[in-house]
Amino acid sequence: MDKIVITGGPSLRGEVQVSGAKNSALPILASTILGGGECVITNVPRVVDVVTMGKLLGILGATVHHEGNRAAIKADVIHSTQAPYELVKTMRASVLVLGPLLARWGEATVSLPGGCAIGSRPVNLHLAGLAKLGAEVSIEHGYIRAKAKRLKGAPIYCDVPTVTGTENLMMAASLAQGTTVIENAAKEPEIVDLADFLTKRGARISGAGTDIITVEGVRELRGSDHEVIPDRIEAGTHLVAGAITKGSVLVSRCRPEHLEPLLNKLREAGARIRVEKEQVHLDATKTARLKGVDVRTLPFPGFPTDMQAQMVALMSVAEGTSVVTETVFESRFMHVEELRRMGADIRVEGNRLVITGREQLTGAPVMASDLRASAGLILAGLAAEGMTEVLRVYHLDRGYERIEEKLRGLGAVIERRKE
Ligand code: UD1
Repeated sequence: MDKIVITGGPSLRGEVQVSGAKNSALPILASTILGGGECVITNVPRVVDVVTMGKLLGILGATVHHEGNRAAIKADVIHSTQAPYELVKTMRASVLVLGPLLARWGEATVSLPGGCAIGSRPVNLHLAGLAKLGAEVSIEHGYIRAKAKRLKGAPIYCDVPTVTGTENLMMAASLAQGTTVIENAAKEPEIVDLADFLTKRGARISGAGTDIITVEGVRELRGSDHEVIPDRIEAGTHLVAGAITKGSVLVSRCRPEHLEPLLNKLREAGARIRVEKEQVHLDATKTARLKGVDVRTLPFPGFPTDMQAQMVALMSVAEGTSVVTETVFESRFMHVEELRRMGADIRVEGNRLVITGREQLTGAPVMASDLRASAGLILAGLAAEGMTEVLRVYHLDRGYERIEEKLRGLGAVIERRKE
């Protein structure tokens, strides 16, 4: 197992290019099995979750050629409609093959994702939506079993906006007979990216990016090319890296419009932000110390829960007190105890963190518990005095492409070692 070793201190400076969005690549790859013909997907980040999705598509019978950041997939036939426990337990997003398998092949058996470090993450809304489309859905021996000769379009109301749930339903509805209207749909940019890809393939989708998505089912989808959008969470992580080290960082190949909720908070904290077409420049070199700001995580276009741990790291060294409220996942605070080991002053009150900024954190060995928590700990390590070792880096590798190399390019003292 690897660990990341950081010597804190240097102000980060320079340019960093953002990779493709993991959370876009995963549904787009899953959706390739909705039709025949070749799909060539570019700007695919080389991260472990994407490799896992490729393995899963291979198990189902698709031909997958993944080289560098390009993946070519053909799913003219499928040999299996089962997503096994061994894969789903390593990646919850495997559940994204449920909608496509059911819609195209009439059945799907997908291991029910289990518990998770950031709280209970049910898939009840995915299942209720598919049932609305006419599927027979049951849970047997730890597996979701869904069956339907051909799905039928229907109105679906989601109790809470769910990102992968909306994606599953949008994919399934693409091949249903008739019209589906998904209300209270998630509005994340990754949903729009998936809708764009499906539309290129012949799907008829309108309203993606708003809370009402309408899908008119078609008989079949064809192959198509697509370039995955930039990863807004990776972009945000580099911006916070610049802010926490009082540096000057140009984050390029990103979509600034996807970063607005974070940029607003960084501005409020005192960082200078300049936005250009596909890049954001953050300058914190002239700010003596960033100020604490209050943050509330919300579905898009609110502040992303996937940036919460990174923001908590930043607030741990900001001036004054800040309150971070997590409203999307109930127990996404596993990084807090680890940040305390580095000297952070954080009080947990239900789903709120009250953070009193310290002048300086001190390096320590810390344990990563999930993907974004790992990123938060690395950021804290960049600003801490002395050496920080982040253990269990496999969480980080699920979602960040070459992060230590990219941070090193900005002047960080960071390396990967064997644990
Ligand atoms: C996706 C992202 C993840 C991000 C999250 C929230 C991917 C692969 N992952 O996860 O990085 O942190 O969105 O932005 O895109 N819920 C239900 N029932 C359901 C489904 C969800 O109650 O059937 C609840 C969840 O418990 C949670 C909320 O809805 O409280 C939002 O979760 P959801 O949007 O579904 O997260 P994911 O799609 O799993």
